[in-house]
Amino acid sequence: MRHFLSSCILILLVWSCKNEPEKQMLNIKEKGFIAHKAMVVSAREEASKIGSDIMQQGGNAFDAMMATEMALAVAYPYAGNLGGGGFLVYRLADGTKGALDYREKAPLASEKNMYLDENGDIIQNKSTVGGMAVGVPGTIAGIFEAQKRFGKLDVATILAPVIELAKNGYIITKNQEKRIAGYDSMFKAVNLKEIPYNNKLKAGDRMINNPLAATLQRIANHGRDEFYNGETAKKLVEFLQANGSIITLEDLAKYEAKWRDPIVFEYDDLTITSMSPPSSGGICLNQIMIMAQPFDLKDYGHNSLKYIQVLVEAEKRAYADRSYYLGDPDFVDIPVKTLTSEAYLNNRMEDFSFSEPTSVDSLSHGNIIGYESNETTHYSIVDQFGNAIAVTTTLNGGYGSKLYANELGFFLNNEMDDFSSKPGEPNYYGLIGAEANSIEPEKRMLSSMTPTIVEKDGEFYMSVGTPGGSTIITSVLQTILNVHEFEMNMQEAVNAPRFHNQWLPDEIRMEPNAFDKKLIQQLQNLGYNINETRSPIIGIVDGILQLEDGTYEGGADKRGDDTAVGF
Ligand code: GLY
Repeated sequence: MRHFLSSCILILLVWSCKNEPEKQMLNIKEKGFIAHKAMVVSAREEASKIGSDIMQQGGNAFDAMMATEMALAVAYPYAGNLGGGGFLVYRLADGTKGALDYREKAPLASEKNMYLDENGDIIQNKSTVGGMAVGVPGTIAGIFEAQKRFGKLDVATILAPVIELAKNGYIITKNQEKRIAGYDSMFKAVNLKEIPYNNKLKAGDRMINNPLAATLQRIANHGRDEFYNGETAKKLVEFLQANGSIITLEDLAKYEAKWRDPIVFEYDDLTITSMSPPSSGGICLNQIMIMAQPFDLKDYGHNSLKYIQVLVEAEKRAYADRSYYLGDPDFVDIPVKTLTSEAYLNNRMEDFSFSEPTSVDSLSHGNIIGYESNETTHYSIVDQFGNAIAVTTTLNGGYGSKLYANELGFFLNNEMDDFSSKPGEPNYYGLIGAEANSIEPEKRMLSSMTPTIVEKDGEFYMSVGTPGGSTIITSVLQTILNVHEFEMNMQEAVNAPRFHNQWLPDEIRMEPNAFDKKLIQQLQNLGYNINETRSPIIGIVDGILQLEDGTYEGGADKRGDDTAVGF
Protein backbone atom coordinates (compact mmCIF):
# COMPACT_ATOMS: atom_id res chain seq x y z
CA MET A 1 0.00 0.00 0.00
CA ARG A 2 2.79 2.40 0.98
CA HIS A 3 4.60 1.55 -2.24
CA PHE A 4 1.40 2.18 -4.19
CA LEU A 5 0.91 5.55 -2.51
CA SER A 6 4.46 6.74 -3.14
CA SER A 7 4.17 5.63 -6.76
CA CYS A 8 0.99 7.68 -7.07
CA ILE A 9 2.72 10.70 -5.56
CA LEU A 10 5.63 10.26 -7.98
CA ILE A 11 3.28 9.96 -10.97
CA LEU A 12 1.41 13.05 -9.80
CA LEU A 13 4.67 14.96 -9.44
CA VAL A 14 5.92 13.94 -12.87
CA TRP A 15 2.54 14.81 -14.35
CA SER A 16 2.41 18.20 -12.70
CA CYS A 17 6.06 18.92 -13.61
CA LYS A 18 5.21 18.28 -17.24
CA ASN A 19 2.08 20.32 -17.14
CA GLU A 20 3.22 23.22 -15.00
CA PRO A 21 7.02 23.27 -15.17
CA GLU A 22 7.50 26.85 -14.03
CA LYS A 23 5.64 26.89 -10.76
CA GLN A 24 6.61 23.64 -9.13
CA MET A 25 7.68 23.98 -5.53
CA LEU A 26 8.69 20.63 -4.12
CA ASN A 27 8.59 20.90 -0.38
CA ILE A 28 9.67 17.35 0.39
CA LYS A 29 12.30 17.52 3.17
CA GLU A 30 12.84 21.19 2.42
CA LYS A 31 14.16 20.32 -1.03
CA GLY A 32 13.86 23.27 -3.35
CA PHE A 33 12.42 23.58 -6.82
CA ILE A 34 14.27 21.46 -9.39
CA ALA A 35 14.90 22.61 -12.96
CA HIS A 36 16.69 20.79 -15.74
CA LYS A 37 17.97 23.62 -17.88
CA ALA A 38 17.53 27.12 -16.48
CA MET A 39 16.33 28.84 -13.35
CA VAL A 40 15.83 32.21 -11.68
CA VAL A 41 15.54 32.56 -7.90
CA SER A 42 14.50 36.03 -6.75
CA ALA A 43 12.49 37.92 -4.16
CA ARG A 44 9.26 37.79 -6.21
CA GLU A 45 7.61 35.05 -8.22
CA GLU A 46 6.69 37.57 -10.95
CA ALA A 47 10.34 38.55 -11.40
CA SER A 48 11.59 34.95 -11.41
CA LYS A 49 8.93 34.01 -13.94
CA ILE A 50 9.67 36.92 -16.28
CA GLY A 51 13.39 36.09 -16.15
CA SER A 52 12.71 32.40 -16.78
CA ASP A 53 10.33 33.20 -19.68
CA ILE A 54 13.00 35.36 -21.32
CA MET A 55 15.34 32.36 -21.26
CA GLN A 56 12.61 30.16 -22.68
CA GLN A 57 12.36 32.63 -25.56
CA GLY A 58 16.05 31.97 -26.32
CA GLY A 59 17.59 34.63 -24.09
CA ASN A 60 20.50 33.86 -21.79
CA ALA A 61 21.28 34.67 -18.14
CA PHE A 62 22.28 38.25 -19.00
CA ASP A 63 19.02 38.91 -20.85
CA ALA A 64 17.22 37.35 -17.89
CA MET A 65 19.21 39.63 -15.57
CA MET A 66 17.81 42.74 -17.27
CA ALA A 67 14.27 41.34 -17.17
CA THR A 68 14.47 40.08 -13.57
CA GLU A 69 16.07 43.23 -12.21
CA MET A 70 13.47 45.50 -13.82
CA ALA A 71 10.62 43.20 -12.76
CA LEU A 72 11.91 43.45 -9.17
CA ALA A 73 11.85 47.24 -9.54
CA VAL A 74 8.15 46.90 -10.41
CA ALA A 75 7.02 44.20 -7.97
CA TYR A 76 9.56 44.56 -5.15
CA PRO A 77 10.16 48.31 -4.77
CA TYR A 78 11.49 47.70 -1.25
CA ALA A 79 14.87 46.94 -2.84
CA GLY A 80 14.38 46.28 -6.56
CA ASN A 81 15.18 49.48 -8.32
CA LEU A 82 16.00 51.91 -11.10
CA GLY A 83 17.17 54.45 -8.51
CA GLY A 84 19.90 52.35 -6.86
CA GLY A 85 22.86 50.17 -7.83
CA GLY A 86 24.37 46.72 -7.52
CA PHE A 87 26.97 44.12 -8.40
CA LEU A 88 27.06 41.19 -10.80
CA VAL A 89 29.36 38.17 -10.55
CA TYR A 90 29.26 35.77 -13.50
CA ARG A 91 30.66 32.49 -14.71
CA LEU A 92 30.31 31.82 -18.43
CA ALA A 93 29.79 28.32 -19.80
CA ASP A 94 33.48 28.17 -20.76
CA GLY A 95 34.51 28.86 -17.15
CA THR A 96 35.42 32.54 -17.65
CA LYS A 97 34.58 34.54 -14.57
CA GLY A 98 34.11 38.26 -14.06
CA ALA A 99 32.32 41.00 -12.18
CA LEU A 100 30.46 44.20 -12.95
CA ASP A 101 30.24 47.11 -10.54
CA TYR A 102 27.19 49.34 -10.96
CA ARG A 103 27.40 50.83 -7.51
CA GLU A 104 26.10 54.37 -6.97
CA LYS A 105 28.58 57.27 -6.86
CA ALA A 106 28.88 60.37 -4.71
CA PRO A 107 27.66 63.43 -6.67
CA LEU A 108 30.27 65.84 -8.04
CA ALA A 109 29.28 68.48 -5.47
CA SER A 110 29.84 66.09 -2.53
CA GLU A 111 32.11 67.09 0.32
CA LYS A 112 33.82 65.00 2.95
CA ASN A 113 31.94 66.64 5.82
CA MET A 114 28.59 67.12 4.11
CA TYR A 115 26.72 65.23 6.84
CA LEU A 116 28.40 67.01 9.79
CA ASP A 117 27.28 70.15 11.63
CA GLU A 118 29.53 73.04 12.66
CA ASN A 119 30.65 71.05 15.73
CA GLY A 120 31.68 68.11 13.58
CA ASP A 121 28.73 66.00 14.76
CA ILE A 122 26.63 63.87 12.43
CA ILE A 123 23.39 65.61 11.39
CA GLN A 124 20.70 63.01 12.09
CA ASN A 125 18.90 61.56 9.04
CA LYS A 126 20.75 63.68 6.47
CA SER A 127 22.55 60.70 4.94
CA THR A 128 19.60 58.33 5.34
CA VAL A 129 16.40 60.06 4.16
CA GLY A 130 15.48 62.64 1.50
CA GLY A 131 17.40 64.19 -1.37
CA MET A 132 20.79 64.59 0.29
CA ALA A 133 20.99 60.84 0.96
CA VAL A 134 20.84 59.92 -2.72
CA GLY A 135 23.88 58.66 -4.63
CA VAL A 136 24.06 58.76 -8.45
CA PRO A 137 22.12 55.63 -9.54
CA GLY A 138 23.93 52.86 -11.41
CA THR A 139 21.31 50.17 -12.05
CA ILE A 140 20.28 51.07 -15.61
CA ALA A 141 23.93 51.43 -16.64
CA GLY A 142 24.68 48.04 -15.07
CA ILE A 143 21.96 45.99 -16.70
CA PHE A 144 22.63 47.57 -20.10
CA GLU A 145 26.38 47.02 -19.82
CA ALA A 146 25.97 43.34 -18.94
CA GLN A 147 23.30 42.74 -21.58
CA LYS A 148 25.27 44.58 -24.29
CA ARG A 149 28.37 42.47 -23.66
CA PHE A 150 26.81 39.05 -23.20
CA GLY A 151 23.08 39.15 -24.01
CA LYS A 152 21.36 37.70 -27.07
CA LEU A 153 17.94 39.35 -27.33
CA ASP A 154 17.00 42.94 -28.08
CA VAL A 155 16.16 45.23 -25.20
CA ALA A 156 12.59 45.91 -26.36
CA THR A 157 11.81 42.16 -26.27
CA ILE A 158 13.31 41.84 -22.79
CA LEU A 159 11.49 44.81 -21.31
CA ALA A 160 8.09 44.11 -22.92
CA PRO A 161 6.84 41.71 -20.20
CA VAL A 162 8.15 44.02 -17.46
CA ILE A 163 6.22 46.94 -18.92
CA GLU A 164 3.13 44.71 -19.03
CA LEU A 165 3.69 43.82 -15.36
CA ALA A 166 3.82 47.51 -14.41
CA LYS A 167 0.67 48.23 -16.46
CA ASN A 168 -1.34 45.21 -15.37
CA GLY A 169 -0.10 45.25 -11.81
CA TYR A 170 0.94 42.64 -9.28
CA ILE A 171 -0.64 41.41 -6.09
CA ILE A 172 0.53 42.91 -2.78
CA THR A 173 1.68 40.18 -0.40
CA LYS A 174 1.22 40.11 3.39
CA ASN A 175 4.92 40.90 3.82
CA GLN A 176 4.56 43.92 1.54
CA GLU A 177 1.44 45.17 3.32
CA LYS A 178 3.31 45.07 6.63
CA ARG A 179 6.40 46.77 5.30
CA ILE A 180 4.57 49.53 3.47
CA ALA A 181 2.39 50.24 6.51
CA GLY A 182 5.53 50.39 8.65
CA TYR A 183 7.11 53.01 6.41
CA ASP A 184 3.90 54.99 5.69
CA SER A 185 4.59 57.88 8.04
CA MET A 186 8.17 58.20 6.77
CA PHE A 187 6.98 58.22 3.15
CA LYS A 188 4.60 61.07 4.00
CA ALA A 189 7.22 63.00 5.97
CA VAL A 190 9.86 62.76 3.24
CA ASN A 191 7.59 63.32 0.24
CA LEU A 192 5.32 65.84 1.99
CA LYS A 193 2.33 64.03 0.52
CA GLU A 194 0.82 60.60 0.18
CA ILE A 195 2.53 58.38 -2.39
CA PRO A 196 1.01 55.36 -4.13
CA TYR A 197 2.72 53.12 -1.55
CA ASN A 198 0.72 53.91 1.57
CA ASN A 199 -1.05 52.19 4.44
CA LYS A 200 -4.29 51.81 2.46
CA LEU A 201 -2.63 49.02 0.45
CA LYS A 202 -3.68 45.61 1.71
CA ALA A 203 -2.53 42.10 0.92
CA GLY A 204 -4.41 40.91 -2.15
CA ASP A 205 -4.70 44.40 -3.69
CA ARG A 206 -3.43 44.86 -7.24
CA MET A 207 -0.69 47.47 -7.53
CA ILE A 208 -0.50 49.14 -10.94
CA ASN A 209 2.36 51.53 -11.76
CA ASN A 210 1.68 53.38 -15.02
CA PRO A 211 4.38 56.06 -14.49
CA LEU A 212 6.99 53.28 -14.16
CA ALA A 213 5.57 51.54 -17.25
CA ALA A 214 6.05 54.82 -19.18
CA THR A 215 9.64 55.23 -17.87
CA LEU A 216 10.49 51.66 -18.87
CA GLN A 217 8.88 52.17 -22.28
CA ARG A 218 11.07 55.23 -22.92
CA ILE A 219 14.13 53.19 -21.83
CA ALA A 220 13.06 50.34 -24.13
CA ASN A 221 12.71 52.84 -27.01
CA HIS A 222 15.86 54.91 -26.48
CA GLY A 223 18.19 52.64 -24.51
CA ARG A 224 20.52 53.31 -21.57
CA ASP A 225 21.01 56.97 -22.45
CA GLU A 226 17.34 57.70 -21.83
CA PHE A 227 18.08 57.36 -18.11
CA TYR A 228 21.42 59.23 -18.10
CA ASN A 229 20.97 61.90 -20.81
CA GLY A 230 17.37 61.82 -22.03
CA GLU A 231 13.93 62.97 -20.93
CA THR A 232 14.06 60.62 -17.92
CA ALA A 233 17.39 62.15 -16.83
CA LYS A 234 15.91 65.68 -17.02
CA LYS A 235 12.76 64.72 -15.09
CA LEU A 236 14.84 62.89 -12.49
CA VAL A 237 17.29 65.73 -11.86
CA GLU A 238 14.45 68.28 -11.69
CA PHE A 239 12.71 66.09 -9.12
CA LEU A 240 15.86 65.42 -7.10
CA GLN A 241 16.90 69.06 -6.95
CA ALA A 242 13.38 70.13 -5.93
CA ASN A 243 13.87 67.74 -3.01
CA GLY A 244 17.23 69.04 -1.85
CA SER A 245 19.59 66.77 -3.79
CA ILE A 246 22.90 68.02 -5.20
CA ILE A 247 22.79 65.56 -8.14
CA THR A 248 23.06 67.30 -11.53
CA LEU A 249 22.63 66.28 -15.17
CA GLU A 250 26.42 66.14 -15.35
CA ASP A 251 26.44 63.53 -12.58
CA LEU A 252 24.08 61.32 -14.57
CA ALA A 253 25.92 61.90 -17.85
CA LYS A 254 29.23 60.87 -16.26
CA TYR A 255 27.99 57.64 -14.67
CA GLU A 256 29.57 54.43 -15.98
CA ALA A 257 29.31 50.85 -14.77
CA LYS A 258 32.77 49.26 -14.37
CA TRP A 259 34.04 45.77 -15.10
CA ARG A 260 36.14 44.54 -12.16
CA ASP A 261 38.31 41.54 -11.44
CA PRO A 262 36.39 39.51 -8.89
CA ILE A 263 37.91 38.01 -5.73
CA VAL A 264 38.71 34.35 -6.41
CA PHE A 265 39.96 31.91 -3.74
CA GLU A 266 40.08 28.22 -2.87
CA TYR A 267 38.41 26.53 0.09
CA ASP A 268 38.95 22.75 0.16
CA ASP A 269 37.90 21.59 -3.32
CA LEU A 270 35.80 24.68 -3.95
CA THR A 271 36.74 27.74 -5.98
CA ILE A 272 34.82 30.73 -4.74
CA THR A 273 34.33 33.85 -6.88
CA SER A 274 32.84 36.88 -5.21
CA MET A 275 32.58 40.65 -5.50
CA SER A 276 35.65 42.82 -5.24
CA PRO A 277 35.80 46.41 -3.94
CA PRO A 278 33.98 48.71 -3.79
CA SER A 279 32.19 45.83 -2.15
CA SER A 280 33.81 44.38 0.92
CA GLY A 281 31.89 41.13 0.35
CA GLY A 282 34.47 39.08 -1.53
CA ILE A 283 37.49 40.10 0.55
CA CYS A 284 35.70 39.52 3.88
CA LEU A 285 34.27 36.18 2.72
CA ASN A 286 37.74 35.15 1.58
CA GLN A 287 39.30 36.22 4.87
CA ILE A 288 36.73 34.48 7.07
CA MET A 289 36.84 31.22 5.12
CA ILE A 290 40.63 31.05 5.09
CA MET A 291 40.76 31.84 8.82
CA ALA A 292 38.19 29.07 9.48
CA GLN A 293 39.72 26.49 7.11
CA PRO A 294 42.23 24.94 9.55
CA PHE A 295 39.41 24.07 11.98
CA ASP A 296 37.41 20.89 11.68
CA LEU A 297 34.05 22.58 11.26
CA LYS A 298 32.27 19.44 10.10
CA ASP A 299 33.40 17.59 13.18
CA TYR A 300 32.25 20.39 15.50
CA GLY A 301 28.75 20.13 13.99
CA HIS A 302 26.37 22.64 12.44
CA ASN A 303 25.68 25.63 14.73
CA SER A 304 27.57 23.93 17.58
CA LEU A 305 29.37 25.98 20.23
CA LYS A 306 32.81 25.49 18.69
CA TYR A 307 31.57 26.15 15.14
CA ILE A 308 30.00 29.43 16.23
CA GLN A 309 33.14 30.44 18.13
CA VAL A 310 35.42 29.87 15.15
CA LEU A 311 33.21 31.74 12.72
CA VAL A 312 32.49 34.61 15.10
CA GLU A 313 36.17 35.17 15.87
CA ALA A 314 37.13 35.02 12.18
CA GLU A 315 34.26 37.41 11.35
CA LYS A 316 35.39 39.82 14.06
CA ARG A 317 38.85 40.03 12.58
CA ALA A 318 37.62 40.39 8.99
CA TYR A 319 35.17 43.20 9.86
CA ALA A 320 37.87 45.03 11.81
CA ASP A 321 40.03 44.96 8.66
CA ARG A 322 37.04 45.95 6.52
CA SER A 323 36.46 49.07 8.54
CA TYR A 324 40.03 50.26 8.13
CA TYR A 325 41.31 49.16 4.77
CA LEU A 326 38.38 48.97 2.37
CA GLY A 327 36.88 51.60 0.10
CA ASP A 328 36.56 52.45 -3.61
CA PRO A 329 39.65 50.97 -5.34
CA ASP A 330 39.63 53.91 -7.79
CA PHE A 331 40.37 56.20 -4.84
CA VAL A 332 42.28 54.14 -2.24
CA ASP A 333 45.01 51.52 -2.36
CA ILE A 334 43.68 48.33 -0.84
CA PRO A 335 46.24 45.69 0.19
CA VAL A 336 44.09 42.90 -1.24
CA LYS A 337 46.89 40.40 -1.67
CA THR A 338 48.06 40.68 1.90
CA LEU A 339 44.60 40.88 3.42
CA THR A 340 43.70 37.59 1.74
CA SER A 341 47.03 35.77 2.15
CA GLU A 342 47.15 32.65 4.28
CA ALA A 343 50.17 33.91 6.20
CA TYR A 344 48.41 37.12 7.21
CA LEU A 345 45.18 35.34 8.10
CA ASN A 346 46.86 32.58 10.13
CA ASN A 347 48.63 35.28 12.02
CA ARG A 348 45.36 37.09 12.56
CA MET A 349 43.92 33.98 14.27
CA GLU A 350 47.01 33.36 16.40
CA ASP A 351 45.39 34.76 19.58
CA PHE A 352 42.14 32.83 19.01
CA SER A 353 41.09 30.67 21.95
CA PHE A 354 38.11 28.43 22.61
CA SER A 355 38.20 29.47 26.28
CA GLU A 356 37.26 33.16 25.84
CA PRO A 357 36.34 35.75 23.19
CA THR A 358 39.11 37.95 21.83
CA SER A 359 38.33 41.41 23.17
CA VAL A 360 37.17 43.84 20.46
CA ASP A 361 39.41 46.59 21.88
CA SER A 362 42.54 44.48 21.61
CA LEU A 363 41.68 43.49 18.08
CA SER A 364 41.39 46.54 15.80
CA HIS A 365 42.58 46.08 12.24
CA GLY A 366 45.62 43.94 11.46
CA ASN A 367 48.95 45.65 10.83
CA ILE A 368 50.23 45.54 7.31
CA ILE A 369 53.76 46.73 6.63
CA GLY A 370 54.33 48.24 3.18
CA TYR A 371 50.84 49.31 2.34
CA GLU A 372 50.06 48.07 -1.08
CA SER A 373 33.31 49.00 1.68
CA ASN A 374 19.38 44.29 4.84
CA GLU A 375 17.53 45.79 2.71
CA THR A 376 18.88 44.81 -0.54
CA THR A 377 17.84 42.03 -2.84
CA HIS A 378 19.64 39.17 -4.50
CA TYR A 379 18.83 36.91 -7.43
CA SER A 380 20.63 33.95 -8.93
CA ILE A 381 20.24 32.74 -12.52
CA VAL A 382 21.50 29.76 -14.52
CA ASP A 383 20.68 29.47 -18.19
CA GLN A 384 20.32 26.62 -20.70
CA PHE A 385 23.68 27.56 -22.25
CA GLY A 386 25.67 26.87 -19.06
CA ASN A 387 26.13 30.49 -17.90
CA ALA A 388 25.56 31.37 -14.24
CA ILE A 389 25.18 34.74 -12.57
CA ALA A 390 24.79 36.08 -9.04
CA VAL A 391 23.42 39.63 -8.72
CA THR A 392 22.79 41.73 -5.64
CA THR A 393 21.10 45.10 -6.05
CA THR A 394 19.92 47.69 -3.58
CA LEU A 395 18.47 51.04 -2.63
CA ASN A 396 20.35 50.58 0.70
CA GLY A 397 17.63 51.01 3.34
CA GLY A 398 14.13 49.61 2.71
CA TYR A 399 12.69 51.88 -0.05
CA GLY A 400 16.04 53.73 0.03
CA SER A 401 15.82 57.41 0.94
CA LYS A 402 11.97 57.03 0.98
CA LEU A 403 12.00 59.72 -1.73
CA TYR A 404 9.56 58.60 -4.44
CA ALA A 405 9.64 60.12 -7.93
CA ASN A 406 5.91 60.06 -8.63
CA GLU A 407 6.17 60.98 -12.29
CA LEU A 408 8.80 58.29 -12.94
CA GLY A 409 7.36 55.62 -10.67
CA PHE A 410 10.36 54.65 -8.53
CA PHE A 411 12.19 55.22 -5.22
CA LEU A 412 15.67 56.75 -4.90
CA ASN A 413 18.49 55.17 -2.91
CA ASN A 414 20.04 56.39 0.36
CA GLU A 415 23.37 54.83 -0.49
CA MET A 416 25.34 57.90 0.66
CA ASP A 417 24.96 56.46 4.19
CA ASP A 418 27.30 53.62 3.21
CA PHE A 419 30.18 56.12 3.24
CA SER A 420 31.75 56.81 6.60
CA SER A 421 30.31 60.29 7.24
CA LYS A 422 32.59 60.60 10.23
CA PRO A 423 35.35 58.05 10.66
CA GLY A 424 34.77 56.07 13.86
CA GLU A 425 30.97 56.65 13.95
CA PRO A 426 28.62 53.78 13.11
CA ASN A 427 26.32 53.97 10.06
CA TYR A 428 22.75 52.54 9.63
CA TYR A 429 24.12 49.00 9.95
CA GLY A 430 26.33 49.85 12.95
CA LEU A 431 29.41 49.55 10.72
CA ILE A 432 32.37 51.69 11.64
CA GLY A 433 34.26 53.27 8.77
CA ALA A 434 37.60 54.96 8.29
CA GLU A 435 39.32 57.32 5.86
CA ALA A 436 39.38 54.69 3.11
CA ASN A 437 35.60 55.04 2.88
CA SER A 438 35.31 58.81 3.40
CA ILE A 439 33.21 60.88 0.98
CA GLU A 440 34.79 62.28 -2.20
CA PRO A 441 33.12 63.46 -5.41
CA GLU A 442 32.50 60.53 -7.80
CA LYS A 443 33.68 57.95 -5.28
CA ARG A 444 31.73 54.71 -4.81
CA MET A 445 30.66 53.94 -1.24
CA LEU A 446 31.81 50.70 0.39
CA SER A 447 29.31 47.87 0.20
CA SER A 448 28.80 44.50 1.86
CA MET A 449 27.03 42.93 -1.10
CA THR A 450 28.40 39.46 -1.78
CA PRO A 451 27.06 37.93 -4.99
CA THR A 452 29.04 34.70 -5.16
CA ILE A 453 29.61 31.81 -7.52
CA VAL A 454 31.09 28.54 -6.26
CA GLU A 455 32.75 25.93 -8.45
CA LYS A 456 33.59 22.38 -7.43
CA ASP A 457 36.31 20.53 -9.29
CA GLY A 458 36.28 23.28 -11.90
CA GLU A 459 32.56 22.97 -12.68
CA PHE A 460 29.74 25.34 -11.72
CA TYR A 461 28.34 24.32 -8.32
CA MET A 462 26.42 27.15 -6.70
CA SER A 463 25.23 30.75 -7.21
CA VAL A 464 24.33 32.50 -3.98
CA GLY A 465 23.74 35.87 -2.34
CA THR A 466 21.42 37.78 -0.04
CA PRO A 467 20.27 41.17 1.21
CA GLY A 468 20.96 42.12 4.82
CA GLY A 469 23.45 45.04 4.89
CA SER A 470 26.37 44.09 7.08
CA THR A 471 24.95 40.58 7.62
CA ILE A 472 25.20 39.76 3.90
CA ILE A 473 28.74 38.43 4.11
CA THR A 474 28.12 36.13 7.05
CA SER A 475 24.84 34.81 5.59
CA VAL A 476 26.54 33.89 2.32
CA LEU A 477 29.36 32.31 4.30
CA GLN A 478 27.01 30.12 6.36
CA THR A 479 25.00 29.07 3.30
CA ILE A 480 28.12 27.86 1.49
CA LEU A 481 29.32 26.03 4.61
CA ASN A 482 25.87 24.50 5.16
CA VAL A 483 26.12 22.83 1.75
CA HIS A 484 29.82 22.05 1.76
CA GLU A 485 30.52 21.04 5.35
CA PHE A 486 27.11 19.84 6.47
CA GLU A 487 25.81 18.36 3.23
CA MET A 488 22.54 20.27 3.23
CA ASN A 489 20.65 20.70 0.01
CA MET A 490 20.11 24.24 -1.26
CA GLN A 491 16.72 24.83 0.34
CA GLU A 492 17.86 23.52 3.74
CA ALA A 493 21.02 25.60 3.50
CA VAL A 494 19.16 28.88 2.95
CA ASN A 495 16.51 28.09 5.58
CA ALA A 496 18.94 27.11 8.36
CA PRO A 497 19.19 29.53 11.34
CA ARG A 498 21.98 32.11 11.06
CA PHE A 499 24.15 34.19 13.36
CA HIS A 500 26.38 37.21 12.76
CA ASN A 501 29.29 39.13 14.24
CA GLN A 502 30.80 42.31 12.77
CA TRP A 503 33.45 43.25 15.35
CA LEU A 504 31.52 46.29 16.55
CA PRO A 505 29.06 46.37 18.21
CA ASP A 506 30.55 43.65 20.41
CA GLU A 507 27.78 41.08 20.11
CA ILE A 508 26.67 37.97 18.29
CA ARG A 509 23.38 38.58 16.53
CA MET A 510 21.35 35.39 16.49
CA GLU A 511 18.15 34.76 14.66
CA PRO A 512 15.45 34.99 17.33
CA ASN A 513 14.01 31.73 18.64
CA ALA A 514 16.16 29.69 16.30
CA PHE A 515 19.00 28.57 18.59
CA ASP A 516 19.01 26.29 21.59
CA LYS A 517 18.82 28.25 24.89
CA LYS A 518 21.54 26.02 26.38
CA LEU A 519 23.88 26.94 23.54
CA ILE A 520 23.17 30.65 24.05
CA GLN A 521 23.88 30.24 27.77
CA GLN A 522 27.19 28.52 26.98
CA LEU A 523 28.20 31.41 24.72
CA GLN A 524 27.23 33.91 27.41
CA ASN A 525 29.20 31.96 30.03
CA LEU A 526 32.25 32.30 27.83
CA GLY A 527 31.77 36.07 27.74
CA TYR A 528 29.92 36.63 24.46
CA ASN A 529 27.15 39.22 24.29
CA ILE A 530 24.12 37.79 22.52
CA ASN A 531 21.59 39.91 20.67
CA GLU A 532 18.49 38.03 19.64
CA THR A 533 16.35 41.10 19.15
CA ARG A 534 18.05 43.44 16.74
CA SER A 535 17.95 41.61 13.48
CA PRO A 536 14.79 39.56 13.14
CA ILE A 537 15.81 38.63 9.62
CA ILE A 538 19.44 37.79 8.98
CA GLY A 539 19.39 38.01 5.21
CA ILE A 540 17.02 36.44 2.73
CA VAL A 541 19.32 34.10 0.84
CA ASP A 542 18.57 32.97 -2.69
CA GLY A 543 20.72 30.35 -4.36
CA ILE A 544 20.99 27.69 -7.03
CA LEU A 545 22.90 24.43 -6.54
CA GLN A 546 23.88 22.07 -9.32
CA LEU A 547 23.11 18.52 -8.22
CA GLU A 548 25.10 15.42 -9.11
CA ASP A 549 22.66 14.47 -11.89
CA GLY A 550 23.21 17.86 -13.53
CA THR A 551 19.84 19.33 -12.54
CA TYR A 552 19.54 22.54 -10.56
CA GLU A 553 18.01 22.95 -7.13
CA GLY A 554 16.73 26.40 -6.19
CA GLY A 555 16.93 27.65 -2.63
CA ALA A 556 14.36 30.44 -2.15
CA ASP A 557 14.56 31.73 1.42
CA LYS A 558 11.43 30.99 3.48
CA ARG A 559 12.02 34.28 5.30
CA GLY A 560 10.67 36.26 2.31
CA ASP A 561 8.29 35.85 -0.64
CA ASP A 562 11.20 34.45 -2.64
CA THR A 563 10.49 31.95 -5.39
CA ALA A 564 12.41 29.77 -7.83
CA VAL A 565 11.08 29.43 -11.37
CA GLY A 566 12.65 27.54 -14.25
CA PHE A 567 12.36 24.80 -16.81
N1 GLY B 1 23.68 49.14 1.11
C1 GLY B 1 24.12 47.92 1.63
C2 GLY B 1 25.40 47.49 1.04
O1 GLY B 1 25.75 47.92 -0.03
O2 GLY B 1 26.10 46.72 1.62
